Amino acid sequence: MLMNYWYAIEQASMVPEGEPYPIRALGEDLVLWRTSDGGMVAQSDLCVHRGALISGGELIDDCLVCPYHGWEYNTAGKCVKIPANMDQTRIPKKAQIDTYPCVEKYGFVWVFLGDLLEDERPPLPTLPLDDHKEARLDGYKATEGRYHWDANYERVLENAIDIAHAPFVHRNTFGNPKKPQVEEYSVDEDGRSAFAIVELDPPPAKGLWGRIRGKERDKVWSKTGLYFPNVTLLNIRLPMGEFLLFTAAVPIDDNHTVSKFINVRNFFQGNWADRDSIKRTLKIFEEDGPQVLGQRPELVPFDLQAELHVKSDALQLAYRRWRQEGHDRGWGIDSHKFMTHKEVKTVIPSPARRENPELANAWVMKEAPLREPSTKTMDETTVPAMPESTVE
Ligand code: FES
Repeated sequence: MLMNYWYAIEQASMVPEGEPYPIRALGEDLVLWRTSDGGMVAQSDLCVHRGALISGGELIDDCLVCPYHGWEYNTAGKCVKIPANMDQTRIPKKAQIDTYPCVEKYGFVWVFLGDLLEDERPPLPTLPLDDHKEARLDGYKATEGRYHWDANYERVLENAIDIAHAPFVHRNTFGNPKKPQVEEYSVDEDGRSAFAIVELDPPPAKGLWGRIRGKERDKVWSKTGLYFPNVTLLNIRLPMGEFLLFTAAVPIDDNHTVSKFINVRNFFQGNWADRDSIKRTLKIFEEDGPQVLGQRPELVPFDLQAELHVKSDALQLAYRRWRQEGHDRGWGIDSHKFMTHKEVKTVIPSPARRENPELANAWVMKEAPLREPSTKTMDETTVPAMPESTVE
C-alpha cells in the first residue's frame, strides 16, 4: 500500500451529519466527521491518551470528543480540552492526532493519506462528472452500492481493468464466450491515470434490457481504466445510452477490500430502474469473486517476471509500473509490520508533521513503517506497455 496519494475512501452519502463515522482504510482506523459549516474532516481514530477509538464518542462545538475520558480534539487535531485537568490552559503539545486533507467531490470522500505539503501533492483526479460534491452529470441518473472482498485491493483493482476476462468470467452477463479476442489497444497514460478504448462484442441481451431493446447487439464502445491509486472507470456506450461505473477499491487491510461504486446512466431514468442497475453491478462482482479470491500469491507480486503478461494485459502493466514508481519514491507502507504489531501503534503521518518541524517530536503516535525503496532503476523494473505475446 502506498501513502502520499488521494484515496477515495467512502461514498459521501454514507457520512452522516452530527456524529463521527469510523472507517478503516490502508490498515489504519480513521474517523470522518462533518463540521457545522458543511466541511468534512478526516482524522486518525486513535486517542493519544489511552488509544481508544475516538469515533465511539460524539461531536460537540466542532470538536471530536473521545468517549473514554472526554478529551476534545478540534478540526486540526489539537486537543483543546482535557476534562480531568483543573487547569485547561495546561494541555500538552503532544495531545494531538493526525488530521488528513479531505475533500468531498464526485460523490466520494477523498482523503490524502500522507505527509506531503500542499504544493507537493499529486492533484485530486478529475473525473468526467460535474464539478460538484455529489456525483452529478447533466442528464444522467446516479446510483451507488458496495461489495466486500476477502482479497487484497490490488488484485481487486487489476481485475476491474482486466479486459480479457469478460468472455469467461462474465459469460452469463456481458461477456461473449464466442468472441474472446481482445483487439489491440493502446494505453493512454499520463502518470495519474491509464485508460484504454476497446470495441466489445456483447452477447445477446437478457432480462430487462433484452426485453426492451431486443436481443441482438452491435459492437459496444467501451473505455476502461483507472485513476491512480484506487478508482477505476468502466464507461460503456450501449444502444440505449451511456453508462459510467466509478469504483473506489478501498483497501481495508492486506486481505480485505470494499468496492464502493457510483454508476451514472442517461437511459431508463426512473427510480424503477435503479435497483436493476445496482443489481447488475453486484452480479458482476459476484462473478469475479471466485477468481479474485483464488489468486496466489494473494498480493500482486513486485517482480514482473513472477507472472506471465500478454498484450491484452497492458492496462494492468500500466498500473504495476505506476505502483513501482510510488515504491521507488519510498512511499510504500510496510503493511505487515504496520498492521500486526501489538505493542507499538503507528499511524500514516499527516502533513502537520512536516508543516511544523519544530514539533517533530510532539507526536505520541510514531509513523507507519515504510518499505525499503527499490534499488533497481526503472529500466530494470519496467516492461514495455504492450509486450509481445510470450506464447510462441
Ligand atoms: Fe481518549 Fe482517554 S483514551 S480520552
